Amino acid sequence: MMFKIVTKRQLAYKKTLFEVEAPDIAAKSNPGQFLIVIAKEGGERVPLTICDYDAKKGTVSFAFHEVGKTTKELGTYEQGESLYNVTGPLGNPSEIKKYGRVLCVGGSIMIAPLLLQSKAMKAAGNHVTTVLGCRGDEFLFMKEEAEAYSDEVVIASDDGTAGEKGMGALCDLLENQHFDRCVVMGPVVMMKQVSDITRPYKIPTVVTLTPIMIDGMGMCGVCRVTVGGKMMFGCVDGPEFDGHLADFDELIKRQRTMLPEERLSSVLWETSGGCKCDRK
Ligand SMILES: Cc1cc2nc3c(=O)[nH]c(=O)nc-3n(C[C@H](O)[C@H](O)[C@H](O)COP(=O)(O)OP(=O)(O)OC[C@H]3O[C@@H](n4cnc5c(N)ncnc54)[C@H](O)[C@@H]3O)c2cc1C
Ligand code: FES
Repeated sequence: MMFKIVTKRQLAYKKTLFEVEAPDIAAKSNPGQFLIVIAKEGGERVPLTICDYDAKKGTVSFAFHEVGKTTKELGTYEQGESLYNVTGPLGNPSEIKKYGRVLCVGGSIMIAPLLLQSKAMKAAGNHVTTVLGCRGDEFLFMKEEAEAYSDEVVIASDDGTAGEKGMGALCDLLENQHFDRCVVMGPVVMMKQVSDITRPYKIPTVVTLTPIMIDGMGMCGVCRVTVGGKMMFGCVDGPEFDGHLADFDELIKRQRTMLPEERLSSVLWETSGGCKCDRK
């Protein structure tokens, strides 16, 4: 079975969203779950978070940042082409219910799946404030969707070219408003920072941990993370965990285990022309 790309959307530089035909997955998907995508036969398995699904159309969407060999290769696929395999939905669905006032904080490519949470939280009757974090104005995307799914949207950027610079806007929000829950999706360092900021306010904070994964189904043990001093598997116990209990430093260390090999494989792919010629 092949998975046809029905929409390719360029969100920002090296950030792409694919909507693919996958009716069985679309029928069972929930916010917070992820897919394992294999671009071509024999290719690497890449875990990517579901950022939308449409059971009627039979499609599921995911967005990716081109950071290494496989995501760069994925970026060369065009609308109308097919991916070799998409497995899912994997992991546990997010806990979506009426909490009251929910703060959704997204950073970089993870803004795309975060907005599915904003949408679901809003549909469950919550007042939703969404914070979009990016490096700068040219990396900001899906602002219109964020506005459609939220009561309030706040933008923050690393260089101050979009919204407020740094974490100041988030600190102001917490100082001036009450929140009953916080959902964070983004780079690990950012999720750690946000969890540190919400801790003194005692706001339950949910983060999506992104360890290296292989099977995504609880068999290999590669995705081990420590949460509240206990060893957990990111794929079957998560991917969402309590941000106030997660050991982010260990996760960062474990994510870097294969760095030399990842860099080499990316360079080798690029110097070979980053070509499509070995696709079936
Ligand atoms: C449950 C789960 C859900 C995920 N959801 C998503 C998602 O929705 N979208 C998405 O893009 N990724 C997501 N990821 C991460 C994604 O799976 C990896 O980025 C991907 O596997 C990289 O594969 P690769 O072969 O391209 O790069 P690899 O060869 O694996 O190299 C990745 C390397 O890139 C570097 N790197 C990582 N992040 C960045 C960055 N932001 N900027 C620069 N360098 C970086 C690191 O050094 C890392 O070691 C998720 C991971 C998990 C476990
Ligand atoms: S990825 Fe293999 S156990 Fe989680």
